[in-house]
Amino acid sequence: MEDQGYPSQSRLLEWYEQNSRSLPWRENPDPWAVLLSEFILQQTKMEVGLRYWKKMYERFPTIQEMSISPLEEVMLLWQGCGYYARARNLHKLSIEIGSRTPPIIPSNPSELEKLPGIGPYTAAAIASISFGIPVAVVDGNVRRVYSRLNAILDPKNSEIQKWADFCLDKDRAGDWNQSLMELGATVCTPRAPKCDICPILSNCKAKLTENPTKFPMSKRRVSTKIQGHALVISSPEGVVLSQREGNQLGGLWGVPITEDPNGLRGLCSYYQIESPEKVGEIHHAFSHRDFHLQVWRINVLKGGISSASVPISRLDQRILEAAGCGES
Ligand code: ADE
Repeated sequence: MEDQGYPSQSRLLEWYEQNSRSLPWRENPDPWAVLLSEFILQQTKMEVGLRYWKKMYERFPTIQEMSISPLEEVMLLWQGCGYYARARNLHKLSIEIGSRTPPIIPSNPSELEKLPGIGPYTAAAIASISFGIPVAVVDGNVRRVYSRLNAILDPKNSEIQKWADFCLDKDRAGDWNQSLMELGATVCTPRAPKCDICPILSNCKAKLTENPTKFPMSKRRVSTKIQGHALVISSPEGVVLSQREGNQLGGLWGVPITEDPNGLRGLCSYYQIESPEKVGEIHHAFSHRDFHLQVWRINVLKGGISSASVPISRLDQRILEAAGCGES
């Protein structure tokens, strides 16, 4: 451990106090507010995440409020935020806590980890930020800061965790964790780090190399390419939508889709329609699935529902827009 680069605690914390973004859950780190922010921020960047957080917190100011609301309502507010399993877990978690006496979020990281959707990162973030428990967080930002300070291309998670545990400021665990994440998110950024304003530049080994941004090595994502068809069956009453299944989009509503490039005929016969018109093509990438869909439309006399009345994914919004049936 001695040979590793550590950030200067006082310089980083001072920088954090003066430069951190002002966020509602930082001013009042109540556990529900922080938990909600962490669920959302694993999904999106701060600017967008903040909008979602405000919408959700306004509607569900307490965990009990969410626990007595239907999943559908949570999904509707989450719409567009991606990875919908997280929203389902959030709702499940609210019901789990809501059923306890008293209905409070635990402070202990291992208790937190037993809740739906909470892994080591989220547990450490809530425990430290809301309760001041001295546990170190490791997320993508911390990984990048570690990798650069030490000029290590592909660090193992266990090694980063050890380093983070070692340099944690135990008296100010929440601020410390957030200062490392904040540095990674705003200064030590992936492509264009602002080394000239970095408060811990003098601790950084990557800066001594010709190209600091080569740290850490990017993890290649393998995506499955899906070539299929989407069918928009439209009537004066709305469009034909049904509830999707599966981890990625389960619980949301969507138009009929086939993931088989030769599956259009089967899809049409299932819905008893003939000769839809090709109206466009869309390309939509999820983290591991790359959708290339041909979009087909047919007008019918009756049936369907308004797409604004149910939660739908960004993928389906784009399909409906391509078919000229978008509503929001
Ligand atoms: N990303 C996720 N949670 C964060 C936090 N609490 N501070 C900064 N960036 C974050």
